[in-house]
Formats: sequence, structure tokens, C-alpha cells
Amino acid sequence: RPGFMGPRGLKGKSSMTTPGECPDTCSTIEGPRGEQGAPGPVGPRGLQGVQGLMGPQGQKGDMGLMGPTGLPGPQGPKGDQGPEGSAFSAALDVNYPMADQPVAFRRVLYNVQNNYNPDMGVYQAPVNGTYVFSYNLAVFGRPLKVGLYANFRPVARSTSLSDNVGVSQLMVLHLAARDQVWLQVKDFYNGMFTAAETSSTFSGYLLYPDTCELPVFRDFSAPMQGDYSWDGPEAAHGPTANPVPEPGTTSPPP
Ligand SMILES: *[C@@H]1O[C@H](CO)[C@@H](O)[C@H](O)[C@H]1NC(C)=O
Repeated sequence: RPGFMGPRGLKGKSSMTTPGECPDTCSTIEGPRGEQGAPGPVGPRGLQGVQGLMGPQGQKGDMGLMGPTGLPGPQGPKGDQGPEGSAFSAALDVNYPMADQPVAFRRVLYNVQNNYNPDMGVYQAPVNGTYVFSYNLAVFGRPLKVGLYANFRPVARSTSLSDNVGVSQLMVLHLAARDQVWLQVKDFYNGMFTAAETSSTFSGYLLYPDTCELPVFRDFSAPMQGDYSWDGPEAAHGPTANPVPEPGTTSPPP
């Protein structure tokens, strides 16, 4: 018959232990050297270095391609009504104009700057300057006495008492801006005539301005003010200081 279990025995010694070595600290043996591992990841970018010295000048390069067309330039200043200057030419379209008022030469041949008003027959100077005026008038059926007027004063006059003997004048005048020039006939002597093969014309132009000022557009819509008369305003108040000589004074016409 078996007895009771005996007490637990003492811990035994390791079989790996060699004589002279501590069994607690040198319990493993070093193995052979392993292979080198793979390189690690790239590190962060470093700080920028100091600028280097300037290199030698390079050779001149080839000419580049032509650049694109530039944008249009800015708008220029506003121009006047036409080319610099002022000129007009107009022809009569109705016979025997009314006396003591401007003769309307309504058939405009040239009036680019519009300084001539064909409905009134009046040219207005756009600038201070020297001007040239001329008229070439046919006469038929009645005698003609005609004058060129500047601001209601007669400047030059012509008389024709015979059919088919026309009259003409050409004169140079100095005018101030806004001065007005027209032709006017005397009462009972309005034989100014026009036909298909007979023209009566009135023309004028700016020869040169006093300065280089540009002509400016004038509005002719406003009616003219003043008293039209054959002898001008001074004659109504006594003898004229600068009388206009009557042509043919040795044998005055009727
Ligand atoms: C034009 O003439 C008038 C009168 O003669 C004068 O008062 C004016 O200053 C002149 N203007 C110019 C721009 O010369």
C-alpha cells in the first residue's frame, strides 16, 4: 500500500552552464554578423547656400522673333469741321434778287467748313485773318448795281447798265472772327442773272489766319440783326467819313 506524496525537491543546475561562467549573465552565445540593411528614407531639404561668384559674360544671342502688333493708340483730339482753312463757292439760282438784303447764292459749289450760309448768302469768318473774296455776275434784262458788304458796310461796288456786260471784283480783306460778308443789290438795279449757260457766282476763302488758331464751327441758325441799306450805317447819320467812290462819276448812270 503506497504512502503520502513527499516535499518538493530543490531547483537543478542548467546543462548549458560551463565551468567558471556565471549562469545568470551569460546564458546566450553571440551569432554570426548580419547583412547590411536597406538605406533609410531621404532627409528634409537643407538651407540655401551662399550665392556663388558671377560667371564670365556669355556670347550675344541670336535676334528674337518679331513681337506681336501693338494695341491701337489713344484717340486723337477732336478735329474741326473739315481741313484746316475755310473756303466757299456758290452760284445764284434765281434771277433778280431782292434789294437791300444779302443775296442768297443757294447753289453751293464748295462749303466744306460750312462757314457760308447758302440760305442767307452770308459768309462768316471763322478766325481773325486775311481773306479773299470775288464775284462774277451776269447781267440781263435790268441794270445791276451790286456791292460786297462786310458787317453792313459796302467794301466794293460794281455797276452794269447793259445786257450781257457782267461785273466782277476780287479783293483781299482782313476780317476778325465772326465778321460777316455778303453781296447786296441796290433797289431798281437788281439785274443779276443766271441761266443754263450763264452763271453768277460768289466765292471766298481764308488766305491765312492771323495766328495758327484752328477754325471753329459756327452756328448759323440765328437770324442776323441789322439794317440793310445801300450806303451803310454812316450814311443814315449824315456825310460818311470814308465815302465809297461811285464808279463812273464823270457820267453817272441814271
Ligand atoms: C481777333 O481780333 C479781335 C478784334 O480785332 C481781337 O479782340 C481778338 O483778340 C483777336 N483774337 C485772336 C485770337 O487773335
